[in-house]
Amino acid sequence: MRQHDRGLTELCAGRVMASLFFEPSTRTDLSFQAAMRRLGGDVVGASNGVQFSSVYKGENLADTVRAAGCYADVIVMRHPQKGASFEAAYYLDKLNQRIDNPTVLISGGDGIGEHPTQALLDMFTIYDKKKTFDNQTITLVGDLLNGRTVHSLAKLIARYGVTGTRLAFVSPDSLRMPAEIMSMLAELGVSTYETADLMDVLGESDVIYWTRIQEERFENPSDYEAIKDRFIMTPSLLSHAKADAILMHPLPRKHEMGTQADHDVLDEDPRAVYFEQMENGMFVRMALLAKVLRGVYV
Ligand code: ASP
Ligand code: CP
Repeated sequence: MRQHDRGLTELCAGRVMASLFFEPSTRTDLSFQAAMRRLGGDVVGASNGVQFSSVYKGENLADTVRAAGCYADVIVMRHPQKGASFEAAYYLDKLNQRIDNPTVLISGGDGIGEHPTQALLDMFTIYDKKKTFDNQTITLVGDLLNGRTVHSLAKLIARYGVTGTRLAFVSPDSLRMPAEIMSMLAELGVSTYETADLMDVLGESDVIYWTRIQEERFENPSDYEAIKDRFIMTPSLLSHAKADAILMHPLPRKHEMGTQADHDVLDEDPRAVYFEQMENGMFVRMALLAKVLRGVYV
């Protein structure tokens, strides 16, 4: 077990974070709340979740966000609609022009759109393990159409600027990376490779980023059933990966990592870094909150 001190500071003492989660979350919600508390700040949220706020009475997103903006210094929001973060930020900006203490909005994920803070913690984890972003084969596997984490990660890698790194996208044909993201990567000069056959790239991958098929995004359950077993990470599959590869997963995981017995073996493999990735989420969110609330990096 690693020895470390996760730390407590007073950097954000006197500041309040509102947690507005319109969609389920374990890691993003808890890590943001823990991050804020570890920085000495406070957290508010509707007592029994957003479904028991005035959203229940039909209040819209614009007004809900502005209500939180009147009370908090920063809002962390997750919403099932793609683009909801932009809509919320637009209305929060309007409020900010009229109140003394402007509020910052941070996206905790918007539908099949983006999950930007996940991308930050993913990048941190890759750097922590590989000490570089250059000359890597980073392979993203699974539901690349509906998975917001892979959208944000691919964009962040491209925007960061990498040399000699290739992004390999492995998915069923029906769940390929959206065309607009592929175009953006091409414009930014990132080398990409798309395939439905994991064995094309598994043995060359430095980073294997496994993802869940996003069941809740499928309109037709039979479409999900037809595809759900397409990519399953197991100990025997991982035996084809490089000895120094890292296996990441944003979590939660379901059967795309096999059975509980498979989990138990994979979790012991030194290449599996998803629990450190999950813990890094809190550290990265501490840094982000300190930056937006106090203008400093911790
Ligand atoms: N937790 C991540 C997300 O909210 C990944 C997932 O749910 O599969 O996007
Ligand atoms: N990785 C992630 O966003 O997890 P949660 O959905 O549990 O927040």
